[in-house]
Amino acid sequence: MKKIKTIVATVVGCGVIGFVGFLTYAKNGENRTFPAIQVELAGSSAAQVERGKYVAAMGDCAACHTVPGKTIYAGGYKLQTPFGVIKASNITQDKETGIGSWTLEEFDKAVRHGIGRDGYLYPAMPYPAYAKMTDQDMADLWAYMRTIAPVKQVVVENELPFPFNQRFLLAGWNLLFFQDKQFTPVPGVTALINRGDYLVNGPGHCAACHTGKNLLGGDVPAALQGGTLQGWHAPDLTPNQHVGLGRWTTDAILTYLKTGANHQAVASGPMMEAVENSTQYLTEGDLQAIAAYLKQIPASKEVRPAAIAATDPRMVTGKRVMQTQCEACHRADGTGVRNMIPAFAGSAQVNAIDPSSLLNVVLMGAEGPVTEGNPTGAGMPRFDWKMADEDIAAVLTYIRNSWGNSALGVSTSDVKTAREQLGADHWLNH
Ligand code: HEC
Ligand code: HEC
Ligand code: HEC
Repeated sequence: MKKIKTIVATVVGCGVIGFVGFLTYAKNGENRTFPAIQVELAGSSAAQVERGKYVAAMGDCAACHTVPGKTIYAGGYKLQTPFGVIKASNITQDKETGIGSWTLEEFDKAVRHGIGRDGYLYPAMPYPAYAKMTDQDMADLWAYMRTIAPVKQVVVENELPFPFNQRFLLAGWNLLFFQDKQFTPVPGVTALINRGDYLVNGPGHCAACHTGKNLLGGDVPAALQGGTLQGWHAPDLTPNQHVGLGRWTTDAILTYLKTGANHQAVASGPMMEAVENSTQYLTEGDLQAIAAYLKQIPASKEVRPAAIAATDPRMVTGKRVMQTQCEACHRADGTGVRNMIPAFAGSAQVNAIDPSSLLNVVLMGAEGPVTEGNPTGAGMPRFDWKMADEDIAAVLTYIRNSWGNSALGVSTSDVKTAREQLGADHWLNH
């Protein structure tokens, strides 16, 4: 008995010491200072602000820090994470509720190192990617942020349940998943590819959505091989021929990032926002760089299940639904309309293992991107109220297994779960 008590006491003792140790470690980390930013300050201050505006577009800061339709950078946008809702901060120049009284050092500490005035930031703010940004880009970005008109708006930052609301725990997350390292060009590859590497993995934070996450929200090792977020699937960006960008030419990638649409796909959901706020503003050279980088990363392993036979009852029903509900726009041969209505045949998204985006678009509808290069976005009607789970499952199974496509079928329970998660309407006839 005494022995057990001693063991328990030892374990509890170690636990307490460990906890106090970690707390001290976390506090020390929070109060750290980082190397001062070194810049050349070339050009006039107006030129610097202009460059900073471009950096803000590369980093897509507006996507999260603006509630659609409200003042830019005033914060309050809600990010759904597996741990709960996190709200993006007010980053206008308001001295009380924004970052108007911050210094460049504090701004850098938040954006590249993930530590704000109130302690560690949640990685919903993509500092793990921004850490790669250069000193020059940070200084330019700050020069631009200083020009943002102040907006007084208090953002109650997060509504996370205990223990996720304890910021000091993020020191542990950082220890596991955060590499606080600036980008260094890879020797032996072209300057163009290095620029693409910087844009994709640094400010562009493409991996935030296109890389899968583990249970703690850290990146899985399969970089850029597809991820799921907020009810959407962000496809594989490696040159995989079936579920990745393998079939897209450099031009096709450029057109998509510039206008949100090409011969194959039309961006919806979070990617539509990324195109509208960010990629459409990138220079031709930077888009070339992104494409060049994506084209030379190793292709993910090809998984291509055998196509479901056309005689399968789901396929027969699916074909009928396609004819009555979808063909007018998407065409009987699944080729769609260039730059307007996505083609199903040969689509990485349609062939993806995870059908989340397909379910999302069919249940909730989607608006195409409106960009300077593509001013009239087309729309996809919502079918939640119009179609039974069986019919949606059948038509998605059909488009995933026709015209050379092959992917696992979509089940009625997949549709049912998606309806609940997306808050879709019920089928009216039900
Ligand atoms: C994917 C969404 C997302 C993007 C993109 C994003 N942020 Fe954030 N940001 C957040 C969230 C969420 C928070 C609040 C995190 C928290 O409460 O821990 C935040 C916090 C901040 C903070 C700390 C503010 C404070 O009061 O503590 C700053 C500064 C900031 N972001 C600047 C930027 C800049 C500059 C960019 C673009 C380079 C950017 N953010 C892009 C989501 C984002
Ligand atoms: C906020 C999340 C998010 C970010 C950040 C993001 N993407 Fe996406 N991306 C998506 C989603 C979701 C889709 C699927 C959209 C659809 O099906 O309409 C997508 C689709 C794409 C596609 C089309 C793939 C296909 O086969 O149809 C390309 C190309 C792409 N993204 C490139 C990028 C690049 C390059 C970056 C970084 C500069 C990036 N994305 C950043 C979420 C994101
Ligand atoms: C009125 C024309 C129209 C009809 C009818 C229509 N669609 Fe669409 N569909 C679109 C447009 C436009 C988009 C692109 C929307 C966007 O990306 O914002 C789209 C997108 C999609 C996507 C997303 C593809 C991708 O690569 O992300 C799927 C899946 C889809 N439709 C399936 C269907 C199905 C199934 C039906 C029939 C039940 C259907 N659509 C009926 C116009 C239509």
